[in-house]
Amino acid sequence: MILVTGGAGYIGSHTCIELARAGHEFVVFDNFSNSAPAVLARMEQIIGRPVVWQKGDIRDPAALDKVFAGHPVSAVLHFAGLKAVTESISQPIDYFDNNVHGSIALMGAMARAGCKTLVFSSSATVYGPEQPMPVAEDAPCAVSNPYGRTKLVVEELLSELGRSDPQWRIATLRYFNPTGAHPSALIGESPLGTPSNLMPLVCQVAAGIRPSLQIFGDDYPSHDGTGVRDFVHVMDLAEGHVAALDFLTKNQARIVVNLGTGHGTSVLEVIRTFERVSGQRVPYEIVPRRDADIGISFADVSLARELLGWVAKRDVDEMCRDAWRWQAANRG
Ligand code: NAD
Ligand code: UFG
Repeated sequence: MILVTGGAGYIGSHTCIELARAGHEFVVFDNFSNSAPAVLARMEQIIGRPVVWQKGDIRDPAALDKVFAGHPVSAVLHFAGLKAVTESISQPIDYFDNNVHGSIALMGAMARAGCKTLVFSSSATVYGPEQPMPVAEDAPCAVSNPYGRTKLVVEELLSELGRSDPQWRIATLRYFNPTGAHPSALIGESPLGTPSNLMPLVCQVAAGIRPSLQIFGDDYPSHDGTGVRDFVHVMDLAEGHVAALDFLTKNQARIVVNLGTGHGTSVLEVIRTFERVSGQRVPYEIVPRRDADIGISFADVSLARELLGWVAKRDVDEMCRDAWRWQAANRG
């Protein structure tokens, strides 16, 4: 059985669907600080059977011990954590507490339970702003905000843990820009309050919830001047996690792997694609660059292909179509 911390969240819930499809049993462990238990019922609708879950916080050793005692957990997919860069600047203690202390408590509980196989959600944010693209896993890391630092600290801790005890099997997955939703439109991304990521904002503008999108800068060294990102469909990411799990089952190894498509798409291209596939207009205005924004970011994905046999299959059309279907069906 696979323990999925943060399994009711955006990437975790989609990954659970893929785990079920691949024949894995799983138990969701989530404190619902950024998700709702209602997601579990939606997941049940998709997979056609009950979802096993326990409400709990990864910083609570007793709750973790209880979930390990209650289920024969062979591996952990660790999504639980806080993820908003701006919030992390104003609330660094919360971010270190959730993301670093929480991960340490989880590793402790895993060690107590004799479960030493872990897939960790890291981020392309660990690469910092000055890297030539595409960026590969051996590029130097340089973080510029507390959120990114929590990811890097946990990455470093995991590599020390592996050095201390080679029985640990660890896959650190550095996601680029997850987007889209399950094609059923039953689950998707539900940012609380004002979203900060591009696709949820595009969806809200298309739905008439916001009057227009602000494009942060058109003077980047890209073909149309707007920022470029490696958008990757959340269902491709979900498949990447199952591939990582399979890899760890077969190999006593510790790996750090980018999950992206290897292709960059500009902000304007996303808007144009979204308008084409949704039939909705997305009015926008160009405003100055966002503070500390990276201009161009996309992944070298050769290691994922080589080690995991994983390649992202879905294109930006599909990401926009699924994001819009989710928005239109659920969020106005
Ligand atoms: P999300 O907020 O939708 O999901 C995280 C889940 O973890 C939520 O359900 C939340 O309730 C739960 N959670 C948070 N703190 C917890 C705690 N202390 N104990 C138990 N549960 C807790 O976020 P997401 O987009 O699904 O991201 C999942 C992981 O991937 C995070 O670690 C995030 O940092 C990482 N990541 C996300 C992105 C992205 O753009 N979405 C990019 C790179 C990395
Ligand atoms: N953008 C706009 N207008 C907006 C929002 C975004 O023009 O209203 C642009 C940004 O300037 C950037 C692109 O859209 O060029 C993507 O921006 P996002 O905020 O969606 O994504 P980022 O790559 O900037 O950040 C994301 C996550 C971070 C994570 C980082 C690296 O939000 O948490 O990817 O993985 F650290």
